[in-house]
Amino acid sequence: MSQENEKQANEKQNHDLQKEHANFITPLGDWSRTHHCAELSAKNDGEEICVMGWVQYRRDHGGLIFIDLRDREGLTQVVFSPEIAPKAHENAHIIRSEYVLAIKGTVRPRPDGMVNAGMNTGEIEVVAMDWKLLNTAKTPPFAVDDRSDAGENLRLQWRYLDLRRPRMTENLRLRHRISSAVRNYLDELEFIEVETPILTKSTPEGARDFLVPSRVNNGQFYALPQSPQQFKQMLMMSGLDRYYQIARCFRDEDLRADRQPEFTQIDIEMSYVDEEKVMSMAEGLMARVFRDSMNIEIPVPFPRLPYDIAMEEYGVDKPDTRFDLKLKDITSIVKGSGFKLFATAELVKGMRVAGGGSMSRKEIDEHTEFVKIYGAQGLAWIKIHETEWQSPIVKFFTEEEKDAIAKALDLQVGDIVFFQAGATDMVNAALGNLRVRLANQLNLIPENTWNLLWVTDFPLFEYSEEDKRYVACHHPFTSAQDSSKELIKTNPKAAKARAYDMVLNGSEIGGGSIRIHAAQDQFHMFEALGFTEESAYAQFGYFINALEFGTPPHGGIAFGLDRIAMLLAGVSSIREVIAFPKTQKATCLMTNAPDTVSSTQLRDLGLRLREEQKKPE
Ligand code: AMO
Repeated sequence: MSQENEKQANEKQNHDLQKEHANFITPLGDWSRTHHCAELSAKNDGEEICVMGWVQYRRDHGGLIFIDLRDREGLTQVVFSPEIAPKAHENAHIIRSEYVLAIKGTVRPRPDGMVNAGMNTGEIEVVAMDWKLLNTAKTPPFAVDDRSDAGENLRLQWRYLDLRRPRMTENLRLRHRISSAVRNYLDELEFIEVETPILTKSTPEGARDFLVPSRVNNGQFYALPQSPQQFKQMLMMSGLDRYYQIARCFRDEDLRADRQPEFTQIDIEMSYVDEEKVMSMAEGLMARVFRDSMNIEIPVPFPRLPYDIAMEEYGVDKPDTRFDLKLKDITSIVKGSGFKLFATAELVKGMRVAGGGSMSRKEIDEHTEFVKIYGAQGLAWIKIHETEWQSPIVKFFTEEEKDAIAKALDLQVGDIVFFQAGATDMVNAALGNLRVRLANQLNLIPENTWNLLWVTDFPLFEYSEEDKRYVACHHPFTSAQDSSKELIKTNPKAAKARAYDMVLNGSEIGGGSIRIHAAQDQFHMFEALGFTEESAYAQFGYFINALEFGTPPHGGIAFGLDRIAMLLAGVSSIREVIAFPKTQKATCLMTNAPDTVSSTQLRDLGLRLREEQKKPE
């Protein structure tokens, strides 16, 4: 029989069996649970108990039938014995994996030699005296346990089965502990939780909006909020004083391992505050989250790193400071060199990898391919040997230049140094990301280390090549630093914002700012962003109006709840801590969303698809 035929035959057999077993299904009736499956121990010896859950494994040992019963808390071994309880044993042979059972039985110690130290109920077992089949189950597409190596697509398609696995349940519980810690902390500080609309107007946070067509107002669209930014500011104008919300946000942007199109923020806003007040509240919040959810004490306050230094030394605005590997600007040293690429570049940086001199050609080639993602053409390198420097580029440098490079980068025998030359953004991105890749590959990252820090003094604007204008680095409601107010008009590139990001182990977990609260300043900001008075009013009129009715000084922050959970869970994808996440292509493999809609629905919404967007029949 071919593999496919065999699979089909098995499926049919299981299906027939399941139908037959369905005759044994019994209502729950007045049975109630006395314990959950992970709770029983030698202390319960002799007790009559009732547990309910799924069958993890069944083993037939001649007369005795053993099962492991699983609920959300863990496993308990149940034994059906023909001698002790013949009635309970009679139909136990029908039990299959993932069947749902209720079991009444007696707790007894396991016989000598049968104790399982790897299981928290491993000292005992439950002798089934009576049981009910509450439901049957099809054979699951993968084994519902942590050893299962099912691929992610399969897990996402059958997510409810995936979530039955202890590791996934634990991720969701960790997430719950984090949000409980947040609520408790903010409640103690007298923050008020307020919900803000999901069907709203475009909120500029730098991504594309998800739009929802209106049936009542054909041709008009709601936008899903990229964050509750304007609403939380308007709550300060409403006198709420201290607001928070565990808020769903929606951004149509390219997805990465730490990004989802819909994600959750811990969103916070406070009146009558400056940076210090928001930052110390936020440090206290993180300390509480670590303590309550992980039992870890983290020291406060967190170190602060100005944006310019972060970029200079680490190449990114969210530096991972658990390991050293810093970047060094050597532009001035190589300016006059015979190596044209270096001599003419806007920026040249080197990164010394101590002891990396034995790196193979293949590894270097792989790193070269990697940096191309960030727009680099290649990757220059020099290996420092006892007697010579080995490198295709070394011939271009004079002895003085070599000495200066060695001094600047503190080069030692046995090192390799990587160089990148070109436009500032590219050089920083290429080396900054290579830095993290190397640290992972060379095991430079210490385990169980939590490096929290602030990045401060962000630029107010960044130039968008795509839009050919300045855009807000954080968002358009961020205040300029006092010393930068004039620069908004004269030299926007140099203006600094009253903005701060919180970084954990190289991930941006939160960001916020002190807001503009004077309508006049908000106008200047919109002007700098290329709005005319009319266009600013057209898009943000309601908000500008609100600013004019006595807005208190205010500021806030938002944390990425999913990212925090992902880091604390020690997993590398944000999808592991979201119950029903989207794939890299923004689809839900379980529900098949997004999906086509009927022509009647489209007509009601006043929409017609263009020919090429219609799905083939
Ligand atoms: P910002 O855009 O920095 O600020 O977002 C705050 C935090 O939200 C998380 N985050 C995401 N997490 C998962 N998937 C995404 N697509 C995603 N995008 C952002 C990050 C980030 O630090 N309104 C401002 C906050 C404020 O000024 O108070 C805002 O949204 O962890």
